[in-house]
Amino acid sequence: MPKKGKFKFKKEKEVKKVKVEVLPKVLQTLRGFKDILPTEQKYWYYLKDKIQKISNEYNFLPIDTPLLEATNLFIRGVGKQTDIVEKEMFSFLLDDNENISLRPEPTAAVARAYLQHGMINQPQPVKLYLVGPMFRYDRPQSGRQRQFHQASFEVLGDGHPVIDAQLLIIAYNFFQEIGLEIDIQINSLGCLACRAEYKKNLINFFRLKRKFLCEDCKRRLVKNPLRILDCKEEKCQELQKEAPQIIDWLCEECKGHFIKVLEYLDESEIPYNLNSFLVRGLDYYTKTVFEFWPVKTNQKSQNALGGGGRYDNLTEVLGGRSVPAAGFGLGLERIILQLKERDIKVPEIEEPQIFLAQLGESARRKALTLFELLKQEKIKVVESFSKDSLKNQLDLANKLGVKFSLILGQKEVLDGTILIRDMEAGIQEIINYNKVVEEVKKKLGSS
Ligand code: HAM
Repeated sequence: MPKKGKFKFKKEKEVKKVKVEVLPKVLQTLRGFKDILPTEQKYWYYLKDKIQKISNEYNFLPIDTPLLEATNLFIRGVGKQTDIVEKEMFSFLLDDNENISLRPEPTAAVARAYLQHGMINQPQPVKLYLVGPMFRYDRPQSGRQRQFHQASFEVLGDGHPVIDAQLLIIAYNFFQEIGLEIDIQINSLGCLACRAEYKKNLINFFRLKRKFLCEDCKRRLVKNPLRILDCKEEKCQELQKEAPQIIDWLCEECKGHFIKVLEYLDESEIPYNLNSFLVRGLDYYTKTVFEFWPVKTNQKSQNALGGGGRYDNLTEVLGGRSVPAAGFGLGLERIILQLKERDIKVPEIEEPQIFLAQLGESARRKALTLFELLKQEKIKVVESFSKDSLKNQLDLANKLGVKFSLILGQKEVLDGTILIRDMEAGIQEIINYNKVVEEVKKKLGSS
């Protein structure tokens, strides 16, 4: 019972009980899945437009792959012992025991398409980009959904370090263009040979400190020791600081590759942070890896706006010829969250210019054809042809914020005229119906 102080408590019956209506489950999206409503679409149009522009500028060709693939593609490609494959795939067993999964990421699928369609025989490198939904059975939270969207840029068939650097330049320019400041975090994971040596060393180091590790990391020590470097638990982070660093274990070839990437970035004045704890959550990476972190927020990798790196062994692991490759993926929901948080305005989707109102059956008929005429003339016009009341139609025109309405009644149909109403001033003029397009354009041009 709250104590009575100088505040007056409302009497029981005065307190208005707010009834929160809980919709039945069938009327709600699944957990971790979201509708993208019309009011949100401007962000999606904007980002997709920028992605298309930048892909075109850097000569990436569009590709779409199916949402469902053989589960084995991701087991082999992403790695059996990654969180994605162990815990996060939406997998289904079909009648004939075929195991299929909704794609948790696009890179393995793009590599599959490259091999399947003989793109290896085209001039190399092959540069592809893909935008679409991905699915991960993850714990939903802010910036983490079970269905989310990625834009993925992949360069297959070229192992030169300049490819890695140019991918980073592309991502950096993309973020610049949309007004988001990012930190590029970069590391090298070496090739299979030098990483194996490093892993042995890392295991030896953490084995001695096993009892101080969190339960997850105790398991990682056996299954995927590199991921210990990525753990966010405080006690593991303490140990990370003293752990051996992969940079010191890179072979000559991998070290030379990494230095070249950094030199190209310096040359292009792209800022970056060397981060020896950056290991990424997918097994296919070799040599360069990177992530894009938003500036001035708590910099946990779960907030990464995107990430990528080189994956020179992926096509071979999938059963094809060995083809060096690199790429990156951008998380579109997280980018939109940042745009909103930072109050970055994006253009509205095309707004209506004119409302076309009608009164009476003959006017309705004539208005139907007039709508088509205005549309052909690229005038953005809205209507509400099923309404009979002029007041209702003009109210709607006001709500939509159009500057002018065209009004066609029985009398105007007989006279061969039409009214044009300035919505703000409330003034209307009679104009010759045959001159309607000319007059509307004149008004819109001068408004
Ligand atoms: P990833 O780091 O797993 O990499 O995902 C890329 C981006 O997708 C993340 O940085 C994040 O922005 C977004 N993302 C991931 N999971 C979620 C989620 N559950 N909810 C919302 N956004 C999420 C890849 O997938 C690699 N295929 C990237 C790549 C391309 N590497 C080479 N080429």
